[in-house]
Amino acid sequence: MIVGVPTETAADEGRVALVPPVAEELVDAGHEVLVASGAGEGAHWSDEEYRDAGCAVLDDRESVFERADVVFQVQALGANEGQPTDPYDDGQVVVGLLGPYSIDEDTLAELADRQVSAFSLELMPRISRAQSMDALSSQASLGGYQACLLAAKELPKMFPMEMTAAGTIRPAEVFVIGAGVAGLKAIATSERLGASTRGHDVRLEVKREVESLGADFVELELETEGSGDEEGYAVEMGEEFYAEQRRQMQRVVPESDVVITTAAIPGRPAPEIVTTEMIEEMDAGSVIVDLAAETGGNCEPTEAGETVEVDGVTVHGPTNLPSRVSHTASQQYANNLANFLENLTDDEGELDVDFEDEIIDSTLLTHDGQVRNPHRDDGGGTDDDESAGDDGEADAPEEEADDD
Ligand code: NAI
Repeated sequence: MIVGVPTETAADEGRVALVPPVAEELVDAGHEVLVASGAGEGAHWSDEEYRDAGCAVLDDRESVFERADVVFQVQALGANEGQPTDPYDDGQVVVGLLGPYSIDEDTLAELADRQVSAFSLELMPRISRAQSMDALSSQASLGGYQACLLAAKELPKMFPMEMTAAGTIRPAEVFVIGAGVAGLKAIATSERLGASTRGHDVRLEVKREVESLGADFVELELETEGSGDEEGYAVEMGEEFYAEQRRQMQRVVPESDVVITTAAIPGRPAPEIVTTEMIEEMDAGSVIVDLAAETGGNCEPTEAGETVEVDGVTVHGPTNLPSRVSHTASQQYANNLANFLENLTDDEGELDVDFEDEIIDSTLLTHDGQVRNPHRDDGGGTDDDESAGDDGEADAPEEEADDD
């Protein structure tokens, strides 16, 4: 296969979909790799390093789209809103974070018309065989790490406890809400930095994981049955549930110097957990990092991509923290893609789209002239999507929308 890597066009994107060491593995496996000049710059990989790895470096990204069989991207289509659709060639395969919940119907139809096979990594099933291809997890883990570092840097207090000649320094109180991939990494990082760390999640099965990292688990008196699915994702609960959660959070949040929120439900708006009223009761100088900013935020005042201040407390709503560790993030992402390609090709290295394979079936948005996104197709096809959310979230998948 000819694998192509164009430059990324999303604002502030430092990552690249393929790094030279992984490109070299693909070349060794018999693939040809084309990279647009400068594609690796944001992640500190030079054209020369790609050439040394056996790649051909092309002058511009358009040439990559013209010649590649398979295009590797970080953020494209629905994940790169505001940018024109890339010039995919007829019959081309694209693999990347494609924003399946926000990609518009016309774009999907156009891709299908042109026989493009679009694989959206956000839809990767959480099964053990798919772990090595799970880009959301590899990137969320880096996001959790960065969120904790951001908080540590901004907080006008030390994280660790110290006994010094000038007196005892009390450890910072860190509270992480949502203990999935990003949350657990934020907890682990906070513990490593020596803060007194607590974690909370509606899925009580993560309590043991939180505690095994050395943190305390905050268990609220909530009816949590049915709050998680078998893949380890949360299921949307009713508004009454969230109102009760906020009521009980009123006790916990104000005691914290740092709050890192990561609560998420795939394809749905982030649940609002931290209110302005709670933040007003926190000490001045406290820091909140809301990782769910892009899907509406877990905190009432969060603004995506902005930092706002509420009564001396800063509320950060960063949208692409993995990009701040672009070198590592690209390495991890490239490994995910290489593993995905291996699963997608047969022993001769030719494309083998096998719908019996859950990984392929789940991630494929368009193929062979059809729009196949399973999330959209469930319950009556793509046309019904307009009814998926009367709260302004028309792009959300119907399956989850109907769950409560
Ligand atoms: P995940 O699905 O692994 O974890 C989310 C966790 O939130 C789950 O454990 C779930 O049970 C929990 N949760 C859901 N509703 C809750 C509630 N009401 N109260 C407490 N916990 C609740 O997701 P992952 O991969 O950890 O990502 C978390 C969020 O961080 C996502 O919104 C993701 O898009 C975002 N993210 C943002 C980044 C950034 O740069 N801003 C970087 C990486 C991830």
